[in-house]
Amino acid sequence: MRKDVENCRKCILWRTRNRPVFGEGPVDAKMMIVGLGPGRQEDLQGRPFVGAAGRFLDQLLTEAGLSRSRVYITNVVKCFLPDNRATEDQVKSCTPYLDQQIEIIQPKLIVALGNVAACYLLGKFGLRCESMEKIHGKVYEVSSLTLSLHIIPMYHPASALRNPGLRGRLVEDWRELGRIIRSLGLAGSTLI
Ligand code: URA
Ligand code: SF4
Repeated sequence: MRKDVENCRKCILWRTRNRPVFGEGPVDAKMMIVGLGPGRQEDLQGRPFVGAAGRFLDQLLTEAGLSRSRVYITNVVKCFLPDNRATEDQVKSCTPYLDQQIEIIQPKLIVALGNVAACYLLGKFGLRCESMEKIHGKVYEVSSLTLSLHIIPMYHPASALRNPGLRGRLVEDWRELGRIIRSLGLAGSTLI
């Protein structure tokens, strides 16, 4: 699958990417984090969340008592987003890869960072998407023939870099996330 993404030219983003960002983490992770798409640093390194937003995400994981190495981290779109925005067509072209990753990993929990990831994932299970203001930190229990998991939408860490007023809210949400993970019984030796 990684090879498929490296060779993918399904949307025009292939033209401006340096390295596709497939995702990283243990294939048996119980938890996935799904962002929007690679920024400049991610594009250069070929790894998700290694720039400024990534540093803040690392801090948030610590707030929740989580270890980054136990979580599978990827994005809705795998190639560099020059304007930090993805079109509907780009999302449509790229999400079959995310769908396949979810089927393989079989997570018990997906934390969806920002509107695009949250709306895609809720929509995939037939749920209606609302503004992040309304849905951040909420737990959605979803299932399909092959999957059974919880989805928790969160503000994107980059939104707090643009709007420092959101920073405290994000820290609070992630502390609460740590409590939710423990109450869902996901806090065994493999998650934390
Ligand atoms: N923002 C994202 O949504 N994903 C990354 O990998 C980095 C920044
Ligand atoms: Fe393919 Fe996704 Fe890259 Fe578009 S963004 S070229 S669909 S891997």
